[in-house]
Amino acid sequence: MELLNAKNSTHLLEAQAHVWNHIFQFINSMSLKCAIQLGIPDIIYNHGQPMTLPQLIASLPIHPSKSKFVYRLIRILVHSGFLAQQNVSYESDQIEEGYVLTNASKLLPKDNPMSVRPFLLFVLGPVFTEPCHCLSSWFQNDSPTPFVTAHGISFWDYAAHDPKINNNFNEAMASDAQLISRMMINGKGKEVFEGLETLVDVGGGTGTLAKAIAHTFAQLECIVFDLPHVVAGLQGSMNLKFVGGDMFETIPPANAILLKSTLHDWSDEECVRILKKCKEVISGKGKTAKVIIIDIVIETEKKDYKLIQTQQLFDMEMMVLSTGRERNEKEWTKLFFSAGFRDYKISPILGLRSVIEVYP
Ligand SMILES: C[S@@+](CC[C@H](N)C(=O)[O-])C[C@H]1O[C@@H](n2cnc3c(N)ncnc32)[C@H](O)[C@@H]1O
Repeated sequence: MELLNAKNSTHLLEAQAHVWNHIFQFINSMSLKCAIQLGIPDIIYNHGQPMTLPQLIASLPIHPSKSKFVYRLIRILVHSGFLAQQNVSYESDQIEEGYVLTNASKLLPKDNPMSVRPFLLFVLGPVFTEPCHCLSSWFQNDSPTPFVTAHGISFWDYAAHDPKINNNFNEAMASDAQLISRMMINGKGKEVFEGLETLVDVGGGTGTLAKAIAHTFAQLECIVFDLPHVVAGLQGSMNLKFVGGDMFETIPPANAILLKSTLHDWSDEECVRILKKCKEVISGKGKTAKVIIIDIVIETEKKDYKLIQTQQLFDMEMMVLSTGRERNEKEWTKLFFSAGFRDYKISPILGLRSVIEVYP
C-alpha cells in the first residue's frame, strides 16, 4: 500500500466517490419510476402552475405516514433535471417555492401522446430488469442472451405467450414511434418518404409510424409487417394494411422498406439475412427503391459524453435482451455491403438516432 499524501488521498476519495456514484446510478432510474407510478408528472402538469410541496403531498396517493419522505424524492428529481423550482406568489404576497416540469419531464405525463412512460415502465419492469442480474452468468454459460438465461426463452417467444407483456411492449414501442413520427413527418425527415409509391414497415409493431406516414402521403400504399400476434385484429385504412409474418421467411414487395428499431434487435448475421430479403423485394422497383433504417449510429468521436453514454447503455440493453447490438458507421457499412447494397446516406436528425437510407 502506498503512503497517503495530500494528492493521493484526494485521488482515493475521488475514486471512492466515482464508484459510489456508479453503485447508486440505478436509484436515479428507480426514483423516476416511482415518481411516474405515483403520478407526480401528471399531477404537476394538471395543476397548471408551480406546485408547492404541501400542495403536491396533498395530491399524492400516498399513506399519510409517508408525507415526510416526499421531499427526498423531489430533491433527487430536481437534481437530475426532472423538476425545476419556481417562485409562486399567493394573495397574501408571500413568495413560496413551487415545482414545475422540465422539458424532460414534460415527456412523462400519461396524456402526452409522446409519453415515455410506457417505455420507462416496461424497461424498468421485472421482466426486463431480471436478465440484468444474469449478465455475468450469461458470460459463463452458452445461452444466447441474458434474457434466455433468466427466463428460459427468447424475448420474442415470451411476448408471443404473454399477452400482457406483448401489449406493454407494443405500447412502449408505440409511444416512441409517436415521437419519431412527429420528427419524421413535421421535421427534416419528411423528404425521405417523398416520391415513394409503396412502403413496408418491417417489424412495424402496431403501426404508429406507418399510420402517420400513410396519413401524410395519401398516394403511398403502406403495409405494416410484423409477427402475427402483434398485428392480430388491427384494422388498416384506405392506404394502410397490416400483414402478419416472419421477416426471415418473406417480406411483402414494395419500393421502400422501413426498419425502425428493428435491426438493432439482431446479430450481424441475422441483419444480413433480413437486409438480403429487403434487397430482393425492392430490386427492380425503380429509382426510389431503398431501405430506410431508423436506429442508433454510435458516435465514435467523443463530442457529446451524455449522448455516447446513452447509446452505449442502449447497446448493453440490447445485449441483455436480444442477439442485437447498436452499431457505429463502420459496422453498419459492413452489413450493407455484405447484403449486396451499393450505397447509403446517414442523416443524424433524430437525436440519439439517425435515419439511414440504403440503396440497392
Ligand atoms: C423493437 S420493436 C420495433 C417496433 C416498431 N418498429 C417501432 O419502432 O415502434 C421490433 C419489432 O420487430 C418485430 N419482430 C420481431 N421478430 C420478427 C420477425 N421474425 N418478423 C417480423 N417482425 C418481427 C417485433 O414484434 C417488434 O414489433
